[in-house]
Amino acid sequence: MSPTPTAPTAPDAPTAPTAPPAPRTATTASTATAAAPRLGPLPLAGDLAGVVPEVERHILEPIIADIDRLKRERNAVVIAHNYMTPDIFHGVSDLRGDSLQLARMAAETDADVIVMAGVSFMAETAKILSPDKTVLIPDTRAGCSLADSITGEDVRNLKAQYPGVPVVTYVNTSAEVKAESDITCTSSNALKIVESLGVDRVLFIPDQYLANWVATQTDVEIITWNGACEVHERFTGAQLAELRASDPGLAIIAHPECPPDVLAEADVVGSTSQMTAWVAEHQPARAVLVTECSMADNVAQDSPGTEFVRPCNMCPHMKRITIQNIRTALEEMQHEVTVDPAVATRARAALDAMLAVG
Ligand code: 13P
Ligand code: SF4
Repeated sequence: MSPTPTAPTAPDAPTAPTAPPAPRTATTASTATAAAPRLGPLPLAGDLAGVVPEVERHILEPIIADIDRLKRERNAVVIAHNYMTPDIFHGVSDLRGDSLQLARMAAETDADVIVMAGVSFMAETAKILSPDKTVLIPDTRAGCSLADSITGEDVRNLKAQYPGVPVVTYVNTSAEVKAESDITCTSSNALKIVESLGVDRVLFIPDQYLANWVATQTDVEIITWNGACEVHERFTGAQLAELRASDPGLAIIAHPECPPDVLAEADVVGSTSQMTAWVAEHQPARAVLVTECSMADNVAQDSPGTEFVRPCNMCPHMKRITIQNIRTALEEMQHEVTVDPAVATRARAALDAMLAVG
């Protein structure tokens, strides 16, 4: 059954994250800086020291060596989302970041081949922004519950229902949905994109919780959809209140795909790279990253002074990507991502509009 449009509900808590205890300073999604991606090939398995156990490193080293050789032979880069497992993130990725950074990297890389260590909408976005490059996704089943929640036809129906209202679309959507949109956004720039339009009403699809979060920070009226991330919607405010009660000094850092009661408990709300940047800047003694499991593993490597409390919600789609299927993707040059050129042209206009906002 198709979801129905919903108006964002008022959050049952403050409209901005509450300030954490001193000396931390709360940083909101709109002001946090994205972590700079690391560029260039990583030293062979070198970054895995302290990330994976010694015994595993021995198994991983020949795979990493193969991937390194294949990348040189194919003039390929592995672009990895922050949710990749540490062996991928620290062992074989050339470029890494949140969705906005991945889109920018895909548009700017000189490589002939992009292996997207992420989910399908990320690979599709890379292909739309780099149509002349070969984009590979190691497992075509790597989907996303948000992308699955809405179709191009749903957006056409919404536009008929709200004529003239601009459509702001989260990048976690298919090319077909982007093609029906005026502009895309990510979790790191959603508020900025909404306000850049200079209108008093927008359709913001498909994530109801990101829409709610933006609505708490702007006077622009937000009409949303009832999509949700199957990973973030499982966190609860009660779960975080319990953690806070047992450790009042804990820094709670949440992704805006979480429900309002979760964001009300957070000290900081931001995209995955904004979370990483906040931890690096503030170096809390203890922190919980209210997002996908692998984030804490990856951030811990660069923030050894922070102890991470880890309620673990795994994204089954992100976890389809493994270091083994990245090697196979490069060996076999599979699975090549294609987007219908007519759809790609219209989707690209929405992506370019976002990138132009900066
Ligand atoms: P980011 O853009 O914050 O990395 O989020 C992507 C995503 O899929 C979160 O679930
Ligand atoms: Fe989609 Fe959620 Fe997985 Fe991100 S974590 S890819 S939003 S299902």
